[in-house]
Amino acid sequence: MSGTETNNHQRVRLYATGSCEGFDKLRESLASHPEIELVGSSVDVAGGAAALAGGHLDAVLHATRATALPADELSAIRGYTQAPVLIVASSGSSGLLEQALDAGVADVLLLPQLVENVVFAIRKATHSGRRHAEAGGGRHGKIVTVFSPKGGTGKTVTATNLATAAAKFEGRKALLLDLDLQFGDAAIMMGVEPDKTIYDLVVAPGELDSEKLAGYITKHPCGLSVLPAPLRPEDAELVTEAKLGRLLEVARESFDIIVVDTSPFFHGPMLATLDRTDELLLLTSLDVPTIKNVRLSLQTLELLSFPSDRVKLVLNRANSKVGMQKKEVEAALEMAVSYEVPSDRAVPLAVNRGNPAVLADGKTEFSRSVRELAKTLVTAQAAAKERKKFLAALARS
Ligand SMILES: Nc1ncnc2c1ncn2[C@@H]1O[C@H](COP(=O)(O)OP(=O)(O)OP(=O)(O)O)[C@@H](O)[C@H]1O
Ligand SMILES: [Mg+2]
Repeated sequence: MSGTETNNHQRVRLYATGSCEGFDKLRESLASHPEIELVGSSVDVAGGAAALAGGHLDAVLHATRATALPADELSAIRGYTQAPVLIVASSGSSGLLEQALDAGVADVLLLPQLVENVVFAIRKATHSGRRHAEAGGGRHGKIVTVFSPKGGTGKTVTATNLATAAAKFEGRKALLLDLDLQFGDAAIMMGVEPDKTIYDLVVAPGELDSEKLAGYITKHPCGLSVLPAPLRPEDAELVTEAKLGRLLEVARESFDIIVVDTSPFFHGPMLATLDRTDELLLLTSLDVPTIKNVRLSLQTLELLSFPSDRVKLVLNRANSKVGMQKKEVEAALEMAVSYEVPSDRAVPLAVNRGNPAVLADGKTEFSRSVRELAKTLVTAQAAAKERKKFLAALARS
């Protein structure tokens, strides 16, 4: 093999998206840099879809004129490739770096920069990505299960909006998994018409892996991936615990966050999900029968030895004037409410239009509280990842 070929092989396959002052010049310098193979560039992320998805890229360089995190572009890029993303900006707010690192961006570079510095940062990003994969880690997405023992409490509304917020506003690679297997309506609330569902996935022959999973996912324009429930209720029983267990493990490798919508029962698939759940959002409302059943659920979870620190109580329609207050709910359940979601007319309107309320109007109280919840969930995850990295480094030293 000739020396040139070996060198070629070691060049970093890079794709450039976006634009900012000085980016054209930087791109030109990178295109002629011996260590970089600039596969292509596109100002518009969608314009680079083919190369981003199929280009076997080592890194993506995204330029932005915004001073805040370009979450939309980031989630669009993430929808195509898992390659590390570096952000280039000509001016940045002090929050940009922090937000970007929280969102899993490999590095942020403020122009002007010497091209050598940029190449160094790109190399560093590809190396840490590789080490990560070699450590057998890859991703380890967080599984957030939304449950309530009562119908109509708002599980699907919460799950769909939360997953949407994680994808659209936090720039995460997010999956919405509908495990309300008989009567799931996550897809209809998202306004997507799926070609394939979880049923098609579990009956397909062969071993499940990330690539295969990707083939059964329906994409929402906001960047969210959706794996809908079976179209016919009788197909639900084919989604066995074993299949579901494997599906969740594989989903963890490909997504940052997996939001699971459920039915109001503790059946086999639910137990398999609980086994792998990092955070259980237990929904309640200001309603006596619901509270009674939530109390019973807490007892069941204890019997199942589900770790109590993973259960977070969510009070939906928290502002409803129904002669009951949050503190009465907390007293009855002997547990504090972690999150409150207000009742909002925008929600049923959004449901009937098949457009998540957080997308329809970001300024409502409902949107604000769900976005806050999404942020808390993904930030806690980022902090846990950092801790793990730190401990691993400590163990190596
Ligand atoms: N915070 C809210 N504000 C206003 N309306 C709400 C809110 N949460 C839920 N709703 C309304 O309640 C209806 C039922 O909610 P949702 O379908 O999410 O419940 P669910 O717990 O998933 O029910 P099921 O167990 O039947 O699947 C929704 O159509 C929505 O219009
Ligand atoms: Mg539902």
